[in-house]
Amino acid sequence: MFEARTLGDIGKPDFYRDLCGQVEALLAGERDPIANAANTSALLFQMMPDLNWAGFYFLRESELVLGPFQGKPACVRIAVGQGVCGAAVARRQSVLVEDVHAFPGHIACDSASRSELVVPLVRDGAILGVIDLDSPRPARFDADDRAGIESVARIYVAAGS
Ligand code: SME
Repeated sequence: MFEARTLGDIGKPDFYRDLCGQVEALLAGERDPIANAANTSALLFQMMPDLNWAGFYFLRESELVLGPFQGKPACVRIAVGQGVCGAAVARRQSVLVEDVHAFPGHIACDSASRSELVVPLVRDGAILGVIDLDSPRPARFDADDRAGIESVARIYVAAGS
């Protein structure tokens, strides 16, 4: 579907500029949050190297509930404050974990996961949910990935109803 430059060809800032353009194009004209989450997770999983899971959790009252994703089946409900995903909601900020084994309370949905990046979805100050990325490679994610996925999260939130 996309003729995109890969991360092997270009640096991360350029990679995320391309990726954000692709997300904008993919979501253009569609406001359904489930459809947009499904396509966004598919694009992230297709384009980002070294991922074993990419998807969404949505905040429903005081817990996160599994949304569209790519990867192995995952735990359905995560309480706010639990795991990396719940920590991102409680702290109201992205959480980047270089070694999931060293993160107290990490929830292992796929035993292959070694590092993780969770970015909150925020609209008008309210948290809607998170984007969660897992990698089998330790320290897969850095500040460029965090900034890039925060941009993807903003595009997703802006597209939805
Ligand atoms: N590892 C996450 C749970 C979700 S799975 O990675 C898909 C966490 O600790 O919140």
